[in-house]
Amino acid sequence: MSNSISVKDYGDGVFRLRGVYSEKEFNDIFKSVKEGTDERSFLNLLYGKVLPSLFEFNPDIKNMLVNEKLINCIKKILNFKENELRITKHSDYHINTLGGWHKDLGQGSYSSYENAVKSKIYKYGLIKQSSEKKVNLATQFFINGKVVVPEIEDGDIILFPTYILHRGYPGNLFISNLRRIFSRIISYKRLNLIINKLNEFSKQKDREAIFFTFGKDSEMLEDFERANLQRAKKQFAENEN
Ligand SMILES: [Fe+2]
Repeated sequence: MSNSISVKDYGDGVFRLRGVYSEKEFNDIFKSVKEGTDERSFLNLLYGKVLPSLFEFNPDIKNMLVNEKLINCIKKILNFKENELRITKHSDYHINTLGGWHKDLGQGSYSSYENAVKSKIYKYGLIKQSSEKKVNLATQFFINGKVVVPEIEDGDIILFPTYILHRGYPGNLFISNLRRIFSRIISYKRLNLIINKLNEFSKQKDREAIFFTFGKDSEMLEDFERANLQRAKKQFAENEN
């Protein structure tokens, strides 16, 4: 990881930034998330573990992620004017989650497509994989009619608009088939628990990811943030039942 940032443009608003963090900064970020969070706060979600509202649980992490280099780079590539860029409180931490194709608009309940474009409502993603069990499909996008799989090294940041079709790692062949077949037969909750158990049994090395939302300071971004924070609250409440 060098001092200068290299930007790879995948099209349709998807970018990979390389060189924002030093190796130490990158490792410290994930160390801080793990050590600064009570594991009991994690929810069984997306066939792995999720901590919604990461910034609330670990306020330091926001300062570690959002440095001047990152801010300047985002402003430049997405054409934010001075003081226009706002980082929201909406943030998640994922361990070994599996993804199906989706957009991050909550089927329009977080934001319409038009508002997401107008307010440049974007996601930031940082992925960490163990070197023994790296998967090359950690994140994928549907760009200009094609599936695009960005090559990601430790420390690389992915920026993508919330309206783009994307998915995380779908699981190995066994797990993805298990999901496909059993999701029609048993409840999501039960399947989620089974896959979580299988992950423990297979001693799967942790894949971790941090996401947060940013965009143009606007009512539309506020709506998006509010809706997502409410969803996180609901997820915690449902988990207690
Ligand atoms: Fe997503």
